[in-house]
Amino acid sequence: MSAALHPAAGRGAPRHFLELSDFDSATLRRMLDLGRAAKSGAIAGKPLAGKHVALIFEKPSTRTRVSFEVGIRQLGGEVVYLNSRDLQSSRGEELSDTARVLSRYVDAIMLRTADVRRIRELAAHATVPVINGLTDVSHPCQLMADVMTFEEHRGPIAGQTVAWVGDGNNVARSFIQAAARFGFRLRLATPPQLAPPAELIAWARAEGAEVTLTADPEEAVAGARAVVTDAWVSMSDEGKDGAPARHNLLSPYRVTPALMAKAAADAIFLHCLPAHRGEEVAAEVIDGPQSVVFDEAENRLHAQKGVLLWALGAA
Ligand code: CP
Ligand code: NVA
Repeated sequence: MSAALHPAAGRGAPRHFLELSDFDSATLRRMLDLGRAAKSGAIAGKPLAGKHVALIFEKPSTRTRVSFEVGIRQLGGEVVYLNSRDLQSSRGEELSDTARVLSRYVDAIMLRTADVRRIRELAAHATVPVINGLTDVSHPCQLMADVMTFEEHRGPIAGQTVAWVGDGNNVARSFIQAAARFGFRLRLATPPQLAPPAELIAWARAEGAEVTLTADPEEAVAGARAVVTDAWVSMSDEGKDGAPARHNLLSPYRVTPALMAKAAADAIFLHCLPAHRGEEVAAEVIDGPQSVVFDEAENRLHAQKGVLLWALGAA
């Protein structure tokens, strides 16, 4: 088939959703507004009717898979779920070829991978939008849901203080990018050995964000309107030596009722899930009145509808 005949021809550059830092604040706000509109029922009809989205998982998922599958179907689209084990790329087909082939069949591709280089490779060769469903260095869909959740509970996030406590992992890195784009103050408390990259913090500061890094969880949470944590061993860290060392390093960073008491009296608790009660968070916190983790999980569905509608130019 000539390039002129293939379905993506003439569409211009695909609207990839790879990193929050790729966008200006207004574009991210537009996506969030679309997500809110979808949640409130203000988006009529089936805007993704006739659209097919491939979901490729190289790592396990509960929320990302189900929220994308259900969200796409609710918008009238069709889903092709692809476990990476079933793809020829698992036995050596080049990802650039997978990208070009899938672009002839589907209208967008979501990828979850433990290697950010793979999503960059996919996006470089796909002629349809590629959506980041988590990599070892970021989780932007999660942050769209987290900002939506904060704002539902506590109003505009701009100018508010959010504390991240624990591993300086992929979700922490997306929080740093989100602080720059949504204008909130971010205080990170991590063991120095697990701090997010200094260059990412420098980038956020250069973008005007107020991002601070400390090893002291109490300093980070003091007066914060939201306290956030995540697993101590992320999927991309599994199978590596050092899980026991991580637990030793991170045990002072558990979010306990005593730590929550140092935050603002009305602070909310966020966790992207899956959670490990008694490790990164005490059961009394995640199951307590300040926790909004299930609203946060629900908002993956709504926020991603906003991302999809923007990426597919469907609203
Ligand atoms: N928070 C999140 O992305 O969860 P899953 O790993 O279940 O998709
Ligand atoms: N940091 C976690 C997030 C899971 C949604 C991981 O990468 O495993």
